[in-house]
Parts: sequence; structure tokens; C-alpha cells
Amino acid sequence: MNSVSELTLINACLVTMTPGAMGYQISSPKTVQLKAGKIVSISNSELTCKEVKEEAPQRRVYDCKNRLVTPGLIDCHTHLVFAGNRSNEFEMRLNGVHYTEIAKQGGGILSTVHATRNATVEQLTELALHRLIGLTNTGVTSVEIKSGYGLTLDDEIKMLRAAKALEHHMHVKVETTLLAAHTTPPEYKDNPDRYIDLICEEIIPLVAEENLASSVDVFCESIGFNLAQTEKVFRAAKQYGLHVKGHTEQLSNLGGSALTAAFNGLSVDHIEYLDEKGVAALAQSNTVATLLPGAFYFLRETQRPPIELLRQHNVPMAIATDFNPGTSPFADLTMMMNMSCTLFGLTPEEALRGVTCNAAKAIGHSTTRGQIEVGFDADLAIWDISHPADLSYQVGIPRLAARIVDGVLSKDGGSCYDIGK
Ligand code: NIG
Ligand code: FE
Repeated sequence: MNSVSELTLINACLVTMTPGAMGYQISSPKTVQLKAGKIVSISNSELTCKEVKEEAPQRRVYDCKNRLVTPGLIDCHTHLVFAGNRSNEFEMRLNGVHYTEIAKQGGGILSTVHATRNATVEQLTELALHRLIGLTNTGVTSVEIKSGYGLTLDDEIKMLRAAKALEHHMHVKVETTLLAAHTTPPEYKDNPDRYIDLICEEIIPLVAEENLASSVDVFCESIGFNLAQTEKVFRAAKQYGLHVKGHTEQLSNLGGSALTAAFNGLSVDHIEYLDEKGVAALAQSNTVATLLPGAFYFLRETQRPPIELLRQHNVPMAIATDFNPGTSPFADLTMMMNMSCTLFGLTPEEALRGVTCNAAKAIGHSTTRGQIEVGFDADLAIWDISHPADLSYQVGIPRLAARIVDGVLSKDGGSCYDIGK
């Protein structure tokens, strides 16, 4: 491996997020060697740039100047790829129409489906890139992106391809999830089970064959799909070697979280209406509880997720933006950390675990991402802050000094991109 893929960080004050109390402590200044996309050593030696250069003249060195370094943040639940805009529905809701009612009238998810079907892969990628800048500027190095606004074989695949293409334009890792079971498309309005068959018999097999997604998600809800339909989709996903996860217990308690846990799901997301039985099921299967405070806030919900029960049962909690046009138009993961503290009562330490080690688990990468450890991916965020709690405390102040993805440094948060590349 040549020196181009090697980078040495000096004077890096690490917040490693490894398990245990030490993970949230700020370390003394360290030297961190990155090679071939991995963290290869962490040492105490306080080398100067000059000393490193004398030892290995070709080596690239970045002086962190005692700045705080965390694992790169992971946004483990987004709907970043879509066309159109739903500010009209925001207005409708503030004039008294409920989200569920808008969906029943053919608005909501279906209005985004209409716009997304009319867009090309290139248009979808360009629209998503713009949103991605917001995320990378808040230290995000990995982002999960769902389909779910196409709802035909071709349009779901188009969305997944647009999501994957983002990696060619920005330094970021994209994890794709098939959410064909987001809502029943108009063509199957009178026969949703037939649409479930299409997902199981055609969409999942092709997505698996073409390696377009690593997980399959279902919106298990009265305005989405019932338990039996969700189970059918999960069975097909497992048959094709894909992980499962669920939009569950967002607006009511259908038992979708326990079902997801029974399939060893990676995560259950939203979970405002989750009860103790559901929490116990998560604890048994080691499924992550993903909190989406942006959607809770934007829909002006009052039912909070059962944080205390999740703590008691040691269920790992992740936090994500759920970026989407209908319920969470917020491309700032640190703002979600702040909201998880102010709205749900998480501690700043829990919030940081929620966007690092626990978010890594929610996307199936717990052994390689979300912690600063030898052998883990060289995905890091370097911050102009004095304490890790500042990430949850402040909103809107640019604090990111640099991001590193697979050992490659971008000093601007990575917001420069080239769509023509
Ligand atoms: O995660 N809950 C379902 N899906 C999205 C909302 C999608 C939309 O309204 O466009 C969510 O909140
Ligand atoms: Fe969502």
C-alpha cells in the first residue's frame, strides 16, 4: 500500500465511543495512524509534524491541534432521495388537517411518489446531493437511505441507484434500504396484498440479485401495512439474505416492533407507542431502538418513546434525522441530538452513542464503524468544540473542522462535489 492511502493524525484528543464510561472521556493528545481505510494504530506519543516527516517524508500528516475527534457520525435512517416538495401539507396541518387525513386524501407519501416517478436517476441524485451537504456539514460520514417513493419495480430500483450514486460525488458511505412497503401505490389501492406479492416475488429478488440494498424496511401502521403483510415481506427478505428493519409503533401500537425483533431485525424506528412487551422483545433479539425526534417534533406528537423502559432493558438507542419531505425536513444530525435530549430526555452521552456506535449497529456495521478503535474504519469527525456535550448543546454554529472517510480527509465537511464526475 503506498503512502497516498496513509494519513497520520497528530495531537488528536479522542472521544472513542468504545463501550464503557471511558468511551465518552476526552483522551490525552494521541497520534493515530490511518492506512488503507482503517485505523491501524493509536499511540500516546505526542509527535510534531516535523518529527513524523523526518521519519517518513512521504507521509501525509494532519495536525488536529488538540481538537476533539469523534467517530464520523452515522445517520441510520433517512429518505434522502425524492423529488417534489410538501410545504403545502405543512400549511394544511397547521390549519388543522391531521397527517393521517392528508395521507387518506391521496397527499402525503403519495404526492412524493408522483413527483419521484417523474424524475430521472440523475435528477434524484442531484436533489439528494444538495440535502447530503447539510448532513456532512454536521459530521456525517455514513448515511442510510431508503427507497419507498417509487412503489413500482423500476421506480424503486431507480431510487436505490440514485442513492448509491451519491458515493461517486461525495466522500460519504451510503447504506441502502428497500422500503417498497412504504404505502400501497394507487394501482393496487383495492388489493394491497397483490402489491405485497409483487414486493416479495419480484422487487426483493431483483434488489438482492443486483446488490442494490442490504436491508428491507416496512411501514407497519394503519396507514401502511398490517402485521401479516409485514411478516410476509420480512420472510422474503430473509430468504434472499437481506436484513430487516421496521417503521413501527409510530402512530399506534400494532406489535410491529416485536415482529421485527422476532426476525432479528437491525432496528425498529419511531416507536413512540412501543409498550414494555415490545421493549422486552427488542432486548432479547439485540435490535436497536432508533429514535426520530425530528418527525415527533414536526408532527407535533405528544406520545414520547419509552426511554426509561429502553434503559432498564439495556436496549441500544440510536438517533437519526429521518430526513423526508413529509415529517422531518431536517438535514442536521446534531440538531436531532439536541432534540433527543430536550424532547425525549436523553443525556448528551446517550445522544452521541445514538449517532455513533449504536447507529453503526442499526445499519449492520457495529464491528467496523462508530468507534475509534484499531481495526475500525478510518471514518472520523474533527471538531472545534471543547466537550462532547457541545454537540448536543449547540445548534447552527459551524463546528466541524474536518471529516475523514476511509482515511481520506475533507477539510470543508465534504460539501464540494462535482455532479459531472
Ligand atoms: O419515516 N412513517 C413513514 N414514513 C416517513 C414519512 C414519509 C412521508 O411522509 O413522506 C417517516 O416518517
Ligand atoms: Fe422514516
